[in-house]
Amino acid sequence: MQKLEINGGKKLSGSITISGSKNATLPILASTILTNKKVVIKNIPLVKDVETMVDLLKLLGSTIKLDKKKKKIEIINKESLKTFAPYRLLKTMRAGVLVLGALLAKYKNAKVSLPGGCAIGSRPVDIHLNALKKMGANIKIKDGYIIASAKNGLKGCLITFPKVSVGATENILIAACFAQGKTKLRNCALEPEIKDLILFLQKLGCKINQIGKRGLNILGVRKTESISHQVIFDRIEAGTYIIAAALTNGILKIKKINPKVILTEIELLKKMGVKIIKKKNYIIASCSKKIKNINIITEPYPGFPTDLQAQIMVLMTMANGTSTIKENIFENRFMHVSELRRLGAKIEIKNNKATIYGNSKLKGAELMATDLRASVSLVLAGLVAKNKTIVNRIYHLDRGYEKIEKKLSLCGAKIKRIK
Ligand code: UD1
Repeated sequence: MQKLEINGGKKLSGSITISGSKNATLPILASTILTNKKVVIKNIPLVKDVETMVDLLKLLGSTIKLDKKKKKIEIINKESLKTFAPYRLLKTMRAGVLVLGALLAKYKNAKVSLPGGCAIGSRPVDIHLNALKKMGANIKIKDGYIIASAKNGLKGCLITFPKVSVGATENILIAACFAQGKTKLRNCALEPEIKDLILFLQKLGCKINQIGKRGLNILGVRKTESISHQVIFDRIEAGTYIIAAALTNGILKIKKINPKVILTEIELLKKMGVKIIKKKNYIIASCSKKIKNINIITEPYPGFPTDLQAQIMVLMTMANGTSTIKENIFENRFMHVSELRRLGAKIEIKNNKATIYGNSKLKGAELMATDLRASVSLVLAGLVAKNKTIVNRIYHLDRGYEKIEKKLSLCGAKIKRIK
């Protein structure tokens, strides 16, 4: 199993180009099931989850050309795709369940594995399934599979989600594009990645309007156009590298982004003492002073993202006082804490609240990565810890961070992949 070895204490300095967003690419890829016209998707991040989604679409029968150099995917679907998504491909990537809405809306049936368990909580798909039932689907769970059919096709209706869910909003939005009549979705998640999916679907010919802050009205269509789309930047990757600059008292130019999309994170990091200069499509992040303590709550966009919680916690261990984090999205997203403690961090957990005592002097140790964002927080901690840190089980990291060791070592970090 591959590991990362980091020798901490190096100031980072240089430029990092941010990749396309994994969390936008995955639903966009799933939604291509709807069309038989040629689709070109650019700025694809070369990460494992995207590879897995491509494998899933290929298995369903899509013809896919992936140009890794140009980070571009071309997709053409045959008249008819298979409607079976096996456990083998969904066990490592929860977003595989996003093919359910598209398959059911287009082919009136689908058998899709329930996604695998996850270290950050039980992560059910009840909200997805209840919404599809409301649209007329018949759904049974058998032997770990969702078996869904809609003999007369899905029908538009009013769906008010009981909770803001990124995946459920995406799945039902995609399904509604091919349902009969109008679907009104309320209490939707509207993260930038979902806005990017909406843009993609609108280009395809789907009729989608945003209503108020969390509403979407979708008029079903069955005709699509051949299109090209450029995926939005990965705002979590951008936030991670801003934190890396601050942690190491370095200076990084974070390129190929739109700072307007990450204003919450920028304002919060500024309050902590990070210096951020915003330009149209890049920012410069640096830090030469002591980090200030702060209290944060994770929330759906435009709130502070849960996907950046583990990373900011590392920065809080360096602050001049005590900080707190209230994790409001996932029930068990503090898996990184026990590993950070092994480096010397002082963190207490009570229910969904973490108290982080600042002024820590982290010392390198051997660590185990548990999930995607936890893994990257351990890498960040390794960058600032004294001596050597080894992060094991980095396949989690490879699911979502493109060439992390290359991007960091080009800016002066001592980090390498070892077998
Ligand atoms: C997506 C992101 C993930 C991010 C999360 C929250 C992708 C591929 N993944 O995950 O990186 O951390 O949004 O921003 O885009 N829930 C239910 N029932 C459901 C669905 C969700 O109870 O049917 C709960 C979840 O357990 C969680 C909360 O709702 O507590 C939010 O989850 P959701 O927004 O659906 O996250 P994902 O789409 O899985």
